[in-house]
Amino acid sequence: MKDNVLTQDIIAKVQENVDIVDVISGYLPLSNKGKNFFGVCPFHSDHSPSMSVSREKQIYKCFSCGASGNVFNFVMNYENVSFIDAVKILASKAGIPLNIKTSNYKDNGRLQVLYDIFDVTQKFYKNNINTKDGEKALEFIKNRKFDLNIIKDFDLGLSLKEDDKLVNLLMKKGFNQTDMLRTGLVNKSERGLKDMYINRIMFPIYNLQGNLVGYSGRIFNGEKLNKYFNTKETEIFKKGEILYNYHRAKNAVKDKEQVIVVEGFFATIRLHTIGVDNVVATLGTAFTKNHASILKRMAKEIVLCFDGDNAGSDATNSCIKELEKVGVIPKIIRLEDNLDPDDYVLKYGKDRMLEKINNPMNIMDYKLNYYKKNKDLTNTQDLSKYVNEMIDELKLIDDDIYRELTLKKLSDISKISVEILKQKLDDIEVATKIPRYEMVNKKLSKYDMAERNLLFYALNNKEIFKKIKDENLKFNNQEYINLIMTVNDYLNEHDTLKISSLLTYFRDNSDMINMLNSLIDLDLKDECSIYEINDYIKVIKERTTKKKMNNLKNNMKEASTKDEKKKLLEQMFNIRKKELEGANKND
Ligand code: CTP
Ligand code: MN
Repeated sequence: MKDNVLTQDIIAKVQENVDIVDVISGYLPLSNKGKNFFGVCPFHSDHSPSMSVSREKQIYKCFSCGASGNVFNFVMNYENVSFIDAVKILASKAGIPLNIKTSNYKDNGRLQVLYDIFDVTQKFYKNNINTKDGEKALEFIKNRKFDLNIIKDFDLGLSLKEDDKLVNLLMKKGFNQTDMLRTGLVNKSERGLKDMYINRIMFPIYNLQGNLVGYSGRIFNGEKLNKYFNTKETEIFKKGEILYNYHRAKNAVKDKEQVIVVEGFFATIRLHTIGVDNVVATLGTAFTKNHASILKRMAKEIVLCFDGDNAGSDATNSCIKELEKVGVIPKIIRLEDNLDPDDYVLKYGKDRMLEKINNPMNIMDYKLNYYKKNKDLTNTQDLSKYVNEMIDELKLIDDDIYRELTLKKLSDISKISVEILKQKLDDIEVATKIPRYEMVNKKLSKYDMAERNLLFYALNNKEIFKKIKDENLKFNNQEYINLIMTVNDYLNEHDTLKISSLLTYFRDNSDMINMLNSLIDLDLKDECSIYEINDYIKVIKERTTKKKMNNLKNNMKEASTKDEKKKLLEQMFNIRKKELEGANKND
């Protein structure tokens, strides 16, 4: 075995030597019902055991939120770690020694070079800010009333006025142009490669594991350019998977059991200077469901402290929406005078900011306020809109007492009786109680269902998979067709077939993973009789036949000569005949 390299063989060995039921039992209680095990899903807010785990298939699936995967996916999602770290955790559980070095970027030689380039770049930028070139930048930082210690605390740097200094350095170090371009740090121009960042204060951005993956550069000389310039999305810089300051904040968040979410760099840094370190920032990008899940796993209490202006208020609201989707009810801080946390501390001082942080608003008080915005509640139309918006919010509250109290407040504001508000709330509730995942599932036609179920069994049984080829089955779903081709390739190298192994093998291929996850349905029986398989095949063929017949019928409409029509009729007749023969064979 090569040093520092995690081969497919080793990964497979780890997977074979752990049992998903044992592993998940280590995190949460599972109880045994029939062939499967059940527990409360940790990936959304729930009290009932909607997560099912199959020992035989070595996969889990939640019927409420749809989370699913194999043992590595579970550990990655639960512990919020990279694939390689999940392998390490499980290898140590299984007692398999791995000779790989720490951090996650050692797992993939293809990406290693990108991290190496960032390494050199970071040393360069950091050094610049302490040279003569950095004087103006230091002045800017001092003018913003920051102690120069923040440079060290947040690894700030400086890109230079000339547009080729970094490129030249990287060339001298022997990196090739393709790899440089892959980092997003350099740019192709007519005059060759040029630095992407020119004369900006550089904020390094780290992924959840603490690896440097991108930058944001801020102007400091009053140039008429975008205030911040961010690295584009790359193989390693995925904005939806990053929260600024996550790796530094992690321990403080654990200690305080609370995470504070702000919008930007200077808010994060200012709070640090007043001793508040349990802070992450969204960096003004769209807040995704993935961000919500990351926050959910960080701490019980999530506090949103966005800028005090209108944009900050809207950002707060969309962030709340995403958090609610994963079952998190955050607390809210709103700052007066449109200030952001940085300005707020400067204007009102540390103590008043700490007071705010220690007394965040509960979410319903925030919403009672937020929806009043731009409305005149003495106007019936505005009032009715307001009440309806609040009723929509109220139905999300599980806690009866909390709901009752908020209803009371809404009644006070709107002057509508609690009884009428309650009636309205009950009417809505009946209509909306179906879990999202089930709704998606129920929409499948019998043909789509047959394709999905057959594929599910086929991916756990090589013999069934072979039948797809032998029977020359034509799937309708293009994604399934691609999947089948990919699995065919996989079988050239592997003797057995199992969804849980495919999930590991194709872990870098997110389309493939999404596809596989959408197929996982542990509600299906573990064993499927040959009769059921034949039924699925029959249904799939039925659709193919229907499609062919429809085509012929359409051609018939357009056919002009008798000869053509006769030929088409013959073809139709043959299809029907084949269909009947097939039906007899299967009975
Ligand atoms: N942002 C960005 N691009 C911009 C403006 C903002 O990426 N053109 C991101 C930055 O991460 C910034 C955050 O959104 O930190 C919040 O924006 P803003 O409040 O405008 O910036 P501040 O952090 O307050 O920076 P400053 O105080 O220097 O204006
Ligand atoms: Mn600011």
